[in-house]
Amino acid sequence: MKKVKNICCIGAGYVGGPTMAVIARECPHIKVTVVDINAPRIEAWNDEDLTKLPVFEPGLDDIIKEARGRNLFFSTEVDKAIDEAEMIFISVNTPTKTYGKGKGMAADLKYIELCARQIARVSKTNKIVVEKSTLPVRTASAIKSILDNTGNDVQFEILSNPEFLAEGTAVTDLLNPDRVLIGGDNSTKEGVNAIQSLSDIYANWVPDSQILTTNVWSSELSKLTANAFLAQRVSSINAMSEICEQTGADVDEVAKAIGMDSRIGSKFLKASVGFGGSCFQKDILNLVYIAKSYGLEEVADYWEQVVIMNDYQKQRFSDNIVKTLYNTVSGKKITFLGWAFKKDTNDTRESAAIKVADSLLNEQAEIVVYDPKVVEERIYADLDYLGSRTPNENRNLLKTAKDAYKACTNSHGIAVLTEWDEFRTYDWERIYNDMQKPAFIFDGRGILNQSELERIGFVYYKIGSGIG
Ligand code: UDX
Ligand code: ADP
Repeated sequence: MKKVKNICCIGAGYVGGPTMAVIARECPHIKVTVVDINAPRIEAWNDEDLTKLPVFEPGLDDIIKEARGRNLFFSTEVDKAIDEAEMIFISVNTPTKTYGKGKGMAADLKYIELCARQIARVSKTNKIVVEKSTLPVRTASAIKSILDNTGNDVQFEILSNPEFLAEGTAVTDLLNPDRVLIGGDNSTKEGVNAIQSLSDIYANWVPDSQILTTNVWSSELSKLTANAFLAQRVSSINAMSEICEQTGADVDEVAKAIGMDSRIGSKFLKASVGFGGSCFQKDILNLVYIAKSYGLEEVADYWEQVVIMNDYQKQRFSDNIVKTLYNTVSGKKITFLGWAFKKDTNDTRESAAIKVADSLLNEQAEIVVYDPKVVEERIYADLDYLGSRTPNENRNLLKTAKDAYKACTNSHGIAVLTEWDEFRTYDWERIYNDMQKPAFIFDGRGILNQSELERIGFVYYKIGSGIG
């Protein structure tokens, strides 16, 4: 069996970039080339100034510094990288379809198919093709069919190797994964060899006991299942958060009490304004679509409820702001602390902040957003994408601030949308003094010190316990 010396990764996004950087760091003997059709993105990956990397992840800059130019390369020359590689990772985006059959539900596989066709056209030697993107079950057979029918009579082995990293902790997740999952065809010699080649790469830094191999379909489905279970936990605790607010229970206390049951576990039980991110909603809708396509209506309904609950949580949060501010926010300044879908990332995909802002703008609120990592263009792009109002209207009603204190000056209410650590250590006395009174805080992440804020004079609402 030949050892892999050259890897190509198609797609230099949130998954492809950090994953390949870590592989290159841990395997100096392998040349890793990450390619993308998005030239500005590749330029940013190659920027000398490491603060300009297109993906912000703690620790990523050090890894790029070490490996880039040594055995890690970022390029737009897709054909060349495919041609040279023995193993090709596909890490392109698989967004929810916005058209045709399965619109709003199914994963759009056009980028995957384009990659497969390109690999088939270019390859002159045998290749191992690895699905890194999260894909519907049985996508591997579609990729295989395209490769075999349009290729140049070279042999392709398809593996599924879903990525479980979470944004904001990508580097530590990649360096110390709970498990690496490799799905392949272990009924043929070529399949077994391909699985072994990929296992050997991970074995450079991951203990054997954590490298799990399964058949391809189990691997594809495990990724969707993992995300569905994680999202379900968030929706479950968020559903409880409303009961807590009605009954005088505190959701953090409930989470702690149930989390100490080792069967339940304490992680992923933080009530919030709603989960975001590029994966949870997309993957559940995809799962719902798959269930429906097999006629499994009850299964589909069961999982769809996780997304319905999440939409409800976002709406409930903005409705509560309006209700608390005497049933009108028209012309009132509301400050958003945070726009990213979670802390330690500049990613805003499906962030709860977007929907909360949209609802409040419909009520003619004047919003000022402060986020330590998200740039202004991204915030406007997120809002414009919804199409609820014209770009001009969005820019008139919503402003961004580079300074949190300025963002809060004269505000009627502060809404915490992301759990950035720095929010905890602000001079809240100073913020209080510069706000309209009564000064309201709507803590959608339950991260601030309630008794301290109430002592200062704030009216403090926490998701999952209501107003003090
Ligand atoms: C997720 C999965 O965790 C990861 O394994 C998969 O590869 C991709 O999808 P990610 O979306 O990056 O990762 O972040 P994650 O930490 O899972 O958080 C998702 C959303 O859930 C965030 O908006 C987060 O704020 C929210 N969340 C998470 C909660 O509201 N409460 C929690 O207890 C945990
Ligand atoms: P993810 O979070 O899954 O990494 P991203 O959207 O961040 O998703 O990244 C996917 C990347 O894949 C994008 O930078 C996009 O330009 C790239 N891409 C999509 N299709 C192709 C293709 N056919 N060839 C090369 N790159 C592609």
